[in-house]
Amino acid sequence: MSTKEKLISHVMKEQPIGCQNKVTVVGVGMVGMASAISILLKDLCDELALVDVMEDKLKGEAMDLQHGSLFLKTHKIVADKDYSVTANSKVVVVTAGARQQEGESRLNLVQRNVNIFKFIIPNIVKYSPNCILMVVSNPVDILTYVAWKLSGFPRHRVIGSGTNLDSARFRHLMGEKLNLHPSSCHGWIIGEHGDSSVPVWSGVNVAGVSLQSLNPKMGAEGDSENWKDVHKKVVDGAYEVIKLKGYTSWAIGMSVADLVESITKNLHKVHPVSTLVQGLHGVKDEVFLSIPSVLGNSGLTDVIHMTLKPEEEKQLVKSAETLWGVQKELTM
Ligand SMILES: NC(=O)c1ccc[n+]([C@@H]2O[C@H](COP(=O)([O-])OP(=O)(O)OC[C@H]3O[C@@H](n4cnc5c(N)ncnc54)[C@H](O)[C@@H]3O)[C@@H](O)[C@H]2O)c1
Repeated sequence: MSTKEKLISHVMKEQPIGCQNKVTVVGVGMVGMASAISILLKDLCDELALVDVMEDKLKGEAMDLQHGSLFLKTHKIVADKDYSVTANSKVVVVTAGARQQEGESRLNLVQRNVNIFKFIIPNIVKYSPNCILMVVSNPVDILTYVAWKLSGFPRHRVIGSGTNLDSARFRHLMGEKLNLHPSSCHGWIIGEHGDSSVPVWSGVNVAGVSLQSLNPKMGAEGDSENWKDVHKKVVDGAYEVIKLKGYTSWAIGMSVADLVESITKNLHKVHPVSTLVQGLHGVKDEVFLSIPSVLGNSGLTDVIHMTLKPEEEKQLVKSAETLWGVQKELTM
């Protein structure tokens, strides 16, 4: 008799029920691991699967997390380069791929990461045909479109993390300016995650008080308080962090967990995430951009119609045209 048999006698033989809320993270780099730890610390899944092509790093990261199991409430953490480990995931977060070098734009990364996606996405679909795909790799809006095309999934099950992070950066900076917690500072950055993102100044408010009604020049040239600079800092923020520490990780990781939470807990919370915007706000092309969207158990179920100013819609259309210009040259 083994020690286990001497210690434990079965009352009943448990039937395997399988996992209900399995989350996979593809890519165990800086962003993947920051996402993984944020998801674990928020108790969002009953099983976490990790996948990467670098076997030693993958094994090391998985072991390091497993050693923390005592402090977590996730029963199972698994890892393998074989995608069978991801089977039956509810949400698959894709963070794999090359990252921006110092000074490199997100758009520059595109074909390198498309080639990686041609391998990753069919494997995810094979093992989790009903999952919700969340794309984080950059350029995120284009790669969300690529993932949508390669997966054959309906649009509500392919979501880009989009400007959820840009909006968080905006609300942090707004909070610093007003000495308020970011959760009390409401402001939406929509459009492209990155250089051409659009701040919706008309909607910026605290406790329902429109800041633009207090300062009509908010966000425009000639504003003595230079609120425009807050958006500039959002755009420049990633470049600055990359320059200082080589990559960004914590804020994007927490932002991913925020999105996963809305899905796994069926919160119907509204987030600025990247979705197919063709036919909305004057966008004609088949592109993904961030607009306020409702996330729940089925994925992205609804979008919110923002009352945008003509200038804001013009900026969105311009981003869409830029993205489409890149997309139509891609070899998929
Ligand atoms: N959307 C956002 O807001 C946001 C924010 C930060 C970074 N990013 C992007 O996230 C991505 C990852 O950034 P990072 O800093 O973690 O990079 P990283 O270099 O630290 O990690 C990337 C990981 O992907 C893995 N990988 C490469 N090819 C793979 C494949 N075919 N299958 C599985 N894994 C593969 C690598 O082995 C590596 O572990 C980049 O594209 C980056 O630009 C997005």
